This record gives sequence, C-alpha cells and structure tokens, in this order.
Amino acid sequence: MTTALARQPAWLRINRWWGLLAGVVLATSDTVTLRALGITLEVNGRDATLLVGGFFGASFALLGFLVGYVVEGRRRDRQASALIREQVETIAATRARLAQSEKLAALGQLATAIAHEVRNPLAVIRSAAQGIAETEAGADAATRRACGFITDEIDRLGSVVTSLLAFARPPQLQPRPVPVRELLDRAAVLARDELDARAVRLARETAVDLPALRADPDLVCQVLLGLLSNGAEAAGAGGEVRLEARATDGRIELAVTDSGPGVPPELRDRVFEPFFTTRPRGTGLGLAVARQIVEAHGGQIAVTDRPGGGARFTIRLPAAADAAVAA
Ligand SMILES: Nc1ncnc2c1ncn2[C@@H]1O[C@H](COP(=O)(O)OP(=O)(O)OP(=O)(O)O)[C@@H](O)[C@H]1O
Ligand SMILES: [Mg+2]
Repeated sequence: MTTALARQPAWLRINRWWGLLAGVVLATSDTVTLRALGITLEVNGRDATLLVGGFFGASFALLGFLVGYVVEGRRRDRQASALIREQVETIAATRARLAQSEKLAALGQLATAIAHEVRNPLAVIRSAAQGIAETEAGADAATRRACGFITDEIDRLGSVVTSLLAFARPPQLQPRPVPVRELLDRAAVLARDELDARAVRLARETAVDLPALRADPDLVCQVLLGLLSNGAEAAGAGGEVRLEARATDGRIELAVTDSGPGVPPELRDRVFEPFFTTRPRGTGLGLAVARQIVEAHGGQIAVTDRPGGGARFTIRLPAAADAAVAA
C-alpha cells in the first residue's frame, strides 16, 4: 500500500528535526519580540538576554524534538498496521486461490472418473435406442418418440460430460497470430444454425485495420459461440445479438451484446462461477470455461449493460506482437 506520506521525500518525513528547528525559531522570535518591546533581561545588572534566549532555545528545541519523535512513531505504527493489513489480505487471497485449485483438482479427478464410467454405457444405450427406432418395433409412433427422447437426453448428458471435462482440465493453448475478421466470420458461420432456430438476428461490427490477435483460434471461437448462444437464448425470438471487435489500449476487444433482459448487477460476478445457472437445462459451465480460456490467454472477460437494455460481454485479448496480419 503506497500512502501519500510514504511518497514524500525522506527528509520531509523526519519530524524530530523539524520540531527542533521550530523550537529554535520560536525561542528566537520570542527573544527578539521581548527586545523589540524594550524588555531587558538582567542578572546582577548585566544584560542576560542572550543567556535567556539560549536557555529558551534549548528547551523549546528539546520539546519540538520530542513532539516530532512521537509523531514519527505514530506514523510508523500507522504504516506498519497498513502493511500488516495488506499482508493479511494477500494471505487470505492466496488461501482462497489454493482452496479453489484444490477444488478444481478434485473436480478434475471426479470429471475424468464420471466421463470414464458414464460415456460407454451412454453410447450403448444410445445405439440401442436408435436400433429399436429402426426395427419393426419402431414403426409405432409412440416408440419412435420415446427413442427420440432417449437419444436427445443422452446427447445432452454427453455435452454435460464434455463441458465438465473442459472445465476440469486446464486449456491447452496453441496460440498464433489470428486475423480478427477471420475469427468472427468463423464464429458467425458456426452460430448460424442455432441463431436461425431461435429466430435471432446477428449483427456485425468490426473496426477496420484491426491488428491480429495472438490466440488459440479454436478456443476463442468456442468462447464466442458460447456467448452467442447465451445471447440468443436471452434475446429470444425476434431479438438481436451483435458481434463487435475493436482495438483498445494495445489489446483487442471482442464484444457480444444482446437485446435480452441483461444480467442484474448483483449476479455479474456469479455468472462466471462454475455451475451457476438460471436455465432449467443449463450446466452453468459455459461462462466458467470461457473465463478459464480467456484468462489462460492473459485476457479478461466481463459483463456490463448494453446501452438501451440487454447484456454486453466483452473479452480483451492481447494483440499479436508482430501485428502484421490485418483483420
Ligand atoms: N446474455 C445473457 N443475458 C442474461 N443472462 C445471461 C446471459 N449469459 C449468461 N447469463 C446468465 O449466466 C448464467 C450462466 O451462464 P453459462 O453460460 O455459464 O451457463 P448456462 O448458459 O446456464 O449453461 P451452459 O453451461 O449450458 O452454457 C446463465 O444461466 C444466465 O443466468
Ligand atoms: Mg451458456
């Protein structure tokens, strides 16, 4: 913690010498004032002004020195307590991070075990359901519908297991310079089917002459797809999602905004927590994985309001150092 006091030059902070100087100045001005008023100080008929002035000077200087010393001590105490507070906060943050990484390690083991135990039986059930739908028994509409439910739900469980694994394993980045426009084109093409199915419009806005990103294009595309999917779900039929890119402070800012209800301020930190969801069929891992991927790139992800209502998710990523590839 850097206080205004600590930023002062050292000589200004030595109060004891300032106190001593103030004592000498006070004693001198008192003595001069007495002389100016015509008051003479005599001892045995001899002028003792200098002697008395010197005595007052020494006493006031000592007093000033001691007061300055006490003030310095109090300042030292204040600085020490600020330092201790700062260290306690750092220790608490480190312990929280440690607890979180222990939780993640346990989750990773659990996810791997679940994936192992669940995926094979699920595949067997899925192919059995598909088999029934294709045999004579599947000629019955009710049986076909039931088989359709089974395969849909198994596909959903499969994607939950995939999200769980993605979250539990730290992302393996393969960064390279990526033209921003190319990345956004790819995300827009991949999101097209879902947006059409939800009757949501996609608007694009990309600043010209953007420097290239230094990123793993597959992972960043995955993040954008998750944000577009969330935005489309929030916007609903007839709504709009917008994909934007611009350069700011030597970084590239990608933004996904939507015309939905927005994220209430009290939930803005929580939406990035694993398993936080308000959707009946959501896993709550989409934004947690997105944050992991963005932070692994040395970037940040945040949510704010879209002017006029709706949510605005922004991702800031480093620009490629040799920004030769233009958007
Ligand atoms: N664009 C948005 N507008 C409003 N709320 C949102 C938006 N995006 C996310 N949220 C809120 O954040 C929560 C977490 O989102 P996240 O993508 O992590 O999980 P999810 O979409 O619920 O499930 P899934 O893991 O399947 O993506 C959502 O349940 C929703 O409450
Ligand atoms: Mg989601």
